[in-house]
Amino acid sequence: MFNQQPSRDQSDPQRVVVMTGATSGFGAHTVRHFAALPDTRVIIGARGSGRSAPPRVDILPLDLASLASVREFAHAVVQWLGDTRIDLLVLNAGMRGSSAGQRSAEGYGLTFAVNHLAHYLLARFLLPSMAGHSRLVITSSNMHDPPIKTIAPKSFDLEAWAYPTKNGSGEGIRSYSVSKLCNLMTAQSFARLDEVKARDISVIAFNPGLTGGVGGGDASALQKALFTIVTHTIYPLIGLFRPEFVMNTPEHSGKRLADVALGTIVPPHGRVYVSLVKGEPTFPDPSELARDRESQDRLWRESAVMVGIKENPKS
Ligand SMILES: NC(=O)c1ccc[n+]([C@@H]2O[C@H](COP(=O)([O-])OP(=O)(O)OC[C@H]3O[C@@H](n4cnc5c(N)ncnc54)[C@H](OP(=O)(O)O)[C@@H]3O)[C@@H](O)[C@H]2O)c1
Repeated sequence: MFNQQPSRDQSDPQRVVVMTGATSGFGAHTVRHFAALPDTRVIIGARGSGRSAPPRVDILPLDLASLASVREFAHAVVQWLGDTRIDLLVLNAGMRGSSAGQRSAEGYGLTFAVNHLAHYLLARFLLPSMAGHSRLVITSSNMHDPPIKTIAPKSFDLEAWAYPTKNGSGEGIRSYSVSKLCNLMTAQSFARLDEVKARDISVIAFNPGLTGGVGGGDASALQKALFTIVTHTIYPLIGLFRPEFVMNTPEHSGKRLADVALGTIVPPHGRVYVSLVKGEPTFPDPSELARDRESQDRLWRESAVMVGIKENPKS
């Protein structure tokens, strides 16, 4: 069950972790690594009821499909923190809608809203509560990159991204690809903030690579079964020639996400993107559009308007 108002252990933990996407998929493995660390308190945001969590993990309600819920969660986290600060902010939740018509509570495309807008708002809200030398990790994907996924965006079109329309097959994956591009752009914008540099906060965009055993969002049971069959038969063969088809286990990707968040894996200076496409971490260039500074700035500014942030420290 949700613990609506988890009280912080007064013994003052040395490390505080806040995480989304910890209830299933590889994130459920990541959170176990955090929970097993000494002197560490973990708080996760999760939707639904009847949730259980590993020991020393508190759960607060969070539905990323609603910006109002994101604000409530963020307020509750700040209250829970008291005088302490966040050491690791891990924004791992993600979904892939099945149709372009799905909308968030505020009327944005559901996948764009859950994967990008909600995390953008959450990270901006919680940034002042992050400790010096802390880490912000946002889970992205190589699906943002046109050479990997041909329908991935090649030009900036926020109107189409925020309000996707029915445009034939692949509409779900197109919105997903857009949202993961936004995650990467947002990570780079955060990394450039004076406030982030001054407090030596590390910002990392994490790509787990294709990872099996996933929940599969709102896909039907048949779609999930077919996906499982394909990933265990055809993908390993294609993976002999195309590394992005090599399947990581949830245990492996979950451990590596924990490593990235804990600073065991550190990208070279000036880089933000960590990819597990080849099983072990590499630090590739994001797509050309993801690296475009003007597009990053526009996404930052216009996302602020969409989530109702009035002040823009970057303008
Ligand atoms: N698996 C892959 O091959 C792969 C590849 C590249 C990137 N990624 C990214 O990696 C991350 C984790 O993926 P996964 O494969 O482990 O996915 P998953 O098994 O479907 O888990 C997704 C997580 O996000 C949470 N979530 C989804 N919608 C939410 C909402 N509206 N409010 C709150 N939480 C929500 C889920 O919560 P519930 O338990 O309530 O569903 C779950 O904890 C995602 O960001 C995904 O895009 C995955």
